Amino acid sequence: MLRSHTCGELRITDLNQDVTLCGWVQKSRDLGGLTFVDLRDRYGITQLTFNMEENAELCEQARELGREYVIQIKGKVIERSSKNKNIPTGEIEVEVKEIKVLNASKTPPFTIEDETDGGEELRMKYRYLDLRRKPVQDKILLRSKLAIAVRNNLSQADFIEVETPYLIKSTPEGARDFVVPSRMHEGQFYALPQSPQTFKQLLMVSGYDKYFQIVKCFRDEDLRADRQPEFTQIDCEMTFVEQEDVLQQFEGLMKSLFQEIKGVDLPNFPRMSYADAMKHYGSDKPDLRFDMKFHELNHLAQGKGFKVFDEAELVVGICAKGCATYSRKQLDKLTAFVKTPQVGAKGLVYVKLNEDGSIKSSIDKFYSAEQLQEWADEMGAEKGDLLLIISGDKNHSRNAMSVLRLQMGEELGLRPKDQFAPLWVVDFPLLEKDEETGNFHAMHHPFTSPKTEDLDKIETAPEEVRANAYDMVINGVELGGGSIRISERKMQEKMLSLLGFSEEEARAQFGFLMDAFEYGTPPHGGIAFGFDRMCALFGGTESIRDYIAFPKNNAGRDVMIDAPSIIDGEQLDELHLAVKES
Ligand code: AMO
Repeated sequence: MLRSHTCGELRITDLNQDVTLCGWVQKSRDLGGLTFVDLRDRYGITQLTFNMEENAELCEQARELGREYVIQIKGKVIERSSKNKNIPTGEIEVEVKEIKVLNASKTPPFTIEDETDGGEELRMKYRYLDLRRKPVQDKILLRSKLAIAVRNNLSQADFIEVETPYLIKSTPEGARDFVVPSRMHEGQFYALPQSPQTFKQLLMVSGYDKYFQIVKCFRDEDLRADRQPEFTQIDCEMTFVEQEDVLQQFEGLMKSLFQEIKGVDLPNFPRMSYADAMKHYGSDKPDLRFDMKFHELNHLAQGKGFKVFDEAELVVGICAKGCATYSRKQLDKLTAFVKTPQVGAKGLVYVKLNEDGSIKSSIDKFYSAEQLQEWADEMGAEKGDLLLIISGDKNHSRNAMSVLRLQMGEELGLRPKDQFAPLWVVDFPLLEKDEETGNFHAMHHPFTSPKTEDLDKIETAPEEVRANAYDMVINGVELGGGSIRISERKMQEKMLSLLGFSEEEARAQFGFLMDAFEYGTPPHGGIAFGFDRMCALFGGTESIRDYIAFPKNNAGRDVMIDAPSIIDGEQLDELHLAVKES
């Protein structure tokens, strides 16, 4: 080995030891008679000292070292005269006797320290340098720790890890496919999996009754802080189970991961129906770290001559505790916020319940103080509180109010990063109707089974049929989703026909799965977690990008390797993609 210890290892108990260290020069300080160098590797930083009086030549050598040079030193561990309490090696330093430059470095384009001067784009271009920084490294290490804990936990519960192919045929998870042209089969394409859904179901047909895989998935969709075009799932499937078994199994997994990695004991996960989540929080992934439930006010607000409310499908309000002191400016800011295109409300009505008992609102012209007091009572509001009200069509108003609720939660400090509020959202609708085309889409995916008790509605009112589908939500993040699957050909055919597939189309795309259903298919179900999102939740940040060693930027580009990129004519030709001259 080129080193006897790492740069994070030496302590006061190692005094007078002769050691050999290797690492990167983080920075050096020349104090005339003494030169100090911070040597860094992934385990930490050790201070090296060079004494001019004792060895002038060595000291000169140290002065020549540039940032990020890779060096090996031999020396002796000594006690520091001024100790650094902030780092574990802060009580010692190494008095260097020999130094060898293993490789020089150009001056890096940004400082490789906890706080860097490099902008986002520059750090992405030099991702291998950004990955040297401790805050980034901590995230990659957390990811590794989590992956290992997941594997241990699931393998202890008898799950086996099976790899499924990447060059496949389209799996409908609702996004666009990335496709790969085939050289050997002119004009034909593979699709990269949006998830291993159909394969894991086939594994259940094959009798591998508890499967998991930490697996890359590919979705060509618009990117956001919590979405990457290639991301990782912890994909799981089980045989001979009902919904309750799956929920128990994976609630258990999440609890033990929180305990092991964060030392946090999660409570039992409450359950909420999709319908309730939408009614009370306007979202199928409510953040339950704080209350601020929706209150529907149609019965109190309508019929009093205020046209905006009278014409609305829904009048909905939240109560912001202690916010009656909000200034005109703050209220104007909130109003402007809800009117932004991302939120999409037409306006915001407020009612202030002042401490002195008076009531002030933006709709005083239409409602008396007594009437507004009735609203306050309905909403459980007290003196000092602020009511915020949005109206319009049901879906848009709920959606806008849900964004406002999160914003208020943020402003009031009700969403601390170290508090965790888990939840199962259950009873999702099987189908959703496309408002523009009137066609049905699968709310989860086409392999999700309908609830037996709703089957009688499948012909007459398909949109009312609920599915055996569930999402795990923590702090408003959809961490995972799954369902109990259809396992009979007839039902699968029915589902595909509801989704608008002709018989031929259904056979061409999913014939293999439906054929398999005819060879002894056990009841089965499962779930997939967004592993990158799980890492971000555990790490306490919103963006998943930092937890991916080599992520894509907002435009889906890898700016380091410059991908996607143009391929040359010869390769296009081989793939039968060249534009042919006519
Ligand atoms: P679903 O489509 O809900 O289900 O995906 C499961 C989980 O994957 C995460 N996720 C993403 N993470 C980062 N970037 C993305 N673009 C992205 N898209 C999804 C989310 C989500 O909850 N086959 C089914 C699972 C099943 O039925 O068992 C599936 O893929 O955290």
